[in-house]
Amino acid sequence: MNVTTKPALLDLARIRADFPILRQSVHGKTLVFLDSAASAMKPRAVIEAMSGAMETQYANVHRGLHWMSERTTEAYEATRDAVAGLIGAPDRHEIVFVRNSTEAINLVAHSYGRGIMKPGQAVVISAMEHHSNIVPWQMLRDAHGIELRIAPITEAGELDMAAFEALLADGRVGLVAITHMSNVLGSYTPAERIAAIAHAHGARVLFDGSQAVVHRRVDVAALGADFYVFTGHKLYGPTGIGVLWGRRELLEAMPPFLGGGDMISSVSYARSTWAQVPHKFEAGTPAILEAIGLSAAIGYVQAIGYEAIAAHEAALTDHALARLSAVEGVRILGRAQDRGGVVSFTLDRAHAHDVATLLDRQGIAIRAGHHCAEPLMHHLGLESTARASFAVYTTHAEIDALADTLARVREFFA
Ligand code: ALA
Repeated sequence: MNVTTKPALLDLARIRADFPILRQSVHGKTLVFLDSAASAMKPRAVIEAMSGAMETQYANVHRGLHWMSERTTEAYEATRDAVAGLIGAPDRHEIVFVRNSTEAINLVAHSYGRGIMKPGQAVVISAMEHHSNIVPWQMLRDAHGIELRIAPITEAGELDMAAFEALLADGRVGLVAITHMSNVLGSYTPAERIAAIAHAHGARVLFDGSQAVVHRRVDVAALGADFYVFTGHKLYGPTGIGVLWGRRELLEAMPPFLGGGDMISSVSYARSTWAQVPHKFEAGTPAILEAIGLSAAIGYVQAIGYEAIAAHEAALTDHALARLSAVEGVRILGRAQDRGGVVSFTLDRAHAHDVATLLDRQGIAIRAGHHCAEPLMHHLGLESTARASFAVYTTHAEIDALADTLARVREFFA
């Protein structure tokens, strides 16, 4: 492993000590975990918040009059404030808890798509979306007569802004739904410009922030977004909780997504009426412990600070691009100017799964496959890629380990 001399931008030893899982060895080698874009590891603060709640303060929320329920409700609702603060939401009632980004997009596709949009209108997505921001719109298209338009990307892997704008020219687009950062190419999209163009053509705009919110401060008001979605587990929080933020007037106009307990104002056999937002969209017992964990994750990220996280990850990404592109046979996908800590690559004609398996034998975990973005893979003329992705706990030495081991993997194939 090469010794790197980059100045430390964060106290990485301290940060890594916060993540107990990183201490272990794999196949007798120190774990090098480079798959955080799939799901990030959890700091002790999150683990302790969740186990602490289970040990001392847990009950169902919004239902009981006893103190355990009241305290747990306070903790659950405090997460709404934490999320609003994290993403600059003007109103805590605009934060809806869902299971993950996929559910958030399905909620919008169902409630805004079928409830507000009219047949004959169109939805614009981009050519670098995750399946979670493709399939719900196809379902809307097929069920509700909505046209689905795909904004192309440039050869560098950036949104083609002229082509995007042209897709809105006929005024029939009701909603633009675009990633804020590609999980394959790492490209950030110019969210403010996208929102301004969408609004100028009478469309609303949703950003899939699943990757973006992990690496940089997001301010939904400054972006001019109408909807913003992300998931907790990539942001160092637990699985099973995600966020839909939407402008209050839109959420209020939208019909509910799922029906059941907690989302109603009254129920009779003849008819039911709905609770106020956000509860109208939170049917059933929610992910209470997961909300408590998400709160802790947000606190953890904020204590480090997005400025330090972004600077650290930008340095890691530059280092990875330099080291990986110097390995013979490696081709890096995407050359966006504005990019986050995700680097996809191929190694000669070796199958990405074989590359990942050989790396795994050396204790290096990456993702390989189509990354839930099959149409993008087809566009790139590939079946799959290998992907390394970085988090606050990633070190330059881990990237060196990946590059050095890849060179040896190539020799193996040769
Ligand atoms: N969406 C996650 C990824 O990109 C699972 O790996």
